[in-house]
Amino acid sequence: MCGIVGYMGNREAYPILVKGLHRLEYRGYDSAGVALVNSNGDLSIYKTKGRVSDLEEFCQSKDTTGMIGIAHTRWATHGEPNNVNAHPHYSESENLALIHNGIIENYAVLKARLMQNGYHFKSNTDTEALIQLIEYIKKQNKVDLCTAVQLALGQVVGAYAIAVMEKGQPDLLIAARKSSPLVLGIGDDEFFIASDASPIIEYTNKVIYLEDEEIVIVKRNLQPKIVTIGNVEKTREIIELEISLNELEKGGYDHFMLKEIFEQPRTLRDCMRGRIDVSCSQVVLSGIIDHKERFRNVKRIIILACGTSWHAGLIGEYLFEEFCRIPVEVEYSSEFRYRNPVINPDDIVIAISQSGETADTLAAIEQARQAGAFVYGICNVVGSSIARNTHSGSYTHVGPEIGVASTKAFTAQLLVLAMMALSVAHEKNTLTEERYLRLLNELNVIPDKIEWILNTTNDSINNLSKIFTYAHNFIYLGRGYNYPVALEGALKLKEISYIHAEGYPAAEMKHGPIALIDSEMPIVIIATDNGMYEKVISNIQEIKARNGRVIAVVSEHDTVVKAIADYVIEVPATEDCFDPLLTTIPLQLLSYHIAVNKKRDVDMPRNLAKSVTVE
Ligand code: F6R
Repeated sequence: MCGIVGYMGNREAYPILVKGLHRLEYRGYDSAGVALVNSNGDLSIYKTKGRVSDLEEFCQSKDTTGMIGIAHTRWATHGEPNNVNAHPHYSESENLALIHNGIIENYAVLKARLMQNGYHFKSNTDTEALIQLIEYIKKQNKVDLCTAVQLALGQVVGAYAIAVMEKGQPDLLIAARKSSPLVLGIGDDEFFIASDASPIIEYTNKVIYLEDEEIVIVKRNLQPKIVTIGNVEKTREIIELEISLNELEKGGYDHFMLKEIFEQPRTLRDCMRGRIDVSCSQVVLSGIIDHKERFRNVKRIIILACGTSWHAGLIGEYLFEEFCRIPVEVEYSSEFRYRNPVINPDDIVIAISQSGETADTLAAIEQARQAGAFVYGICNVVGSSIARNTHSGSYTHVGPEIGVASTKAFTAQLLVLAMMALSVAHEKNTLTEERYLRLLNELNVIPDKIEWILNTTNDSINNLSKIFTYAHNFIYLGRGYNYPVALEGALKLKEISYIHAEGYPAAEMKHGPIALIDSEMPIVIIATDNGMYEKVISNIQEIKARNGRVIAVVSEHDTVVKAIADYVIEVPATEDCFDPLLTTIPLQLLSYHIAVNKKRDVDMPRNLAKSVTVE
């Protein structure tokens, strides 16, 4: 999704802006651009379709001087990815430049009105309507840039994080947000703005997260001033971030995705640290402890999420129902928010989101809050919008996830859900003490078991991936706790290799998908030795009877599936309910290696965005 960077200080802005754009590449984008005001007050915009490196090449012959600038990576929503639609956009007189993340929903009305007033539009974007409107208001009302921005945003329907600069004003940078994230970084006599902290952290760890409908006015040598669209002055707390630059780098791996897959033993240990006590006798999740009455008495839990986080939610449903005997519904946020759902004030809503910025999940949370429900967030990004808009919650604490395809965030979401379900079950007495302790002890050794899988299977999965690199379709099957893992495995393959893949509950196969099976069709089936083992073996027999090519994820030392499957990948045994934490790992590796063999852009797959801040 679009990325924003801005700088004002005593250094040349261009290198800082370009570096910042590189750090935001993980969000996914199709074009990039930069606007600079030099010391003479000249305003220049350079932009191009393609990568940030294409922008750098384009700028080689240009004047990129100036100690103030804004830069943008665009993820197309209105108008195809091309040089004209790329940001920044000029106003009619070319005196103003704007970058924008979000969607101006009423842009067509605004554009028509401005065209009637003699304004000309070059792009197909919604964004251009906003910068034209700001200029129109500035001229009509004879006001300064900040007031024009306030008045214009008052007319806008939609979501935005914006930054604006003006020709002849090398000392003024204005930024604002509503429903799209924006962070202000405060250095020594220099200021940064960005969609998240990753472009800023190299220079300062002091940040302010702007709230909805707030505008920050950054003037050289002055403290930034924050006002609302309605011109109410605000004071915001400066937060000191603890994230390091090292955490953002690839650490010797070829791709961020591979680094993040291999980080999982550590990230899960980090996620558990301080939450499962050393003697493994209790879970200490402050978000639950602070609201234990509510969790003890809740009649229904609704889990809201999108994509991979939704798959984690499905596993959460199984965990809460099994451990706590609480009915759970899992909903796509995008469906929930538009279908007039029944929400009771005594419901608990759990919103799961790696980025904490997913627009549909944010909107669904708001709806649940309006209906009086208690909302608990499971997020990775500290200080993100969802983390701030929920009553309570738990961070997954896995550090920044840069690869667009989610891996370590998914396993940490599963771990948090497992810890939550165990903690609530303990409160409600729905598990025997013996089983509760056994599960806690098992959870504690899951990172070691993942380490084993990574060390023992990566090479063989790499070899296996070569056999299937040119397959056109894949089917993923699993039952019980491993059914959502099958969905997640298929999604991972689709996302990064662009191979069509479908996930199904294994028993559903005979209700339709079995028609697809022939000797060309690879079927990945999770067949670990759990409560569903015998049933899954029958499903494998059905596939083999139709000549399907079976790649089975099995428990260590399995002999039965090994005898009938074409290929097997072993994982250590665990409790049925924790199987997904292990079985998902080989599926991540399989997708990764196939995508690498196909020379795909693994960390930034086409059309995808890391943080989906538009609905
Ligand atoms: C898949 C993936 C997406 C996200 C989805 C929700 O690998 O990353 O499906 O899970 O866009 O994002 P978050 O979790 O940030 O709300």
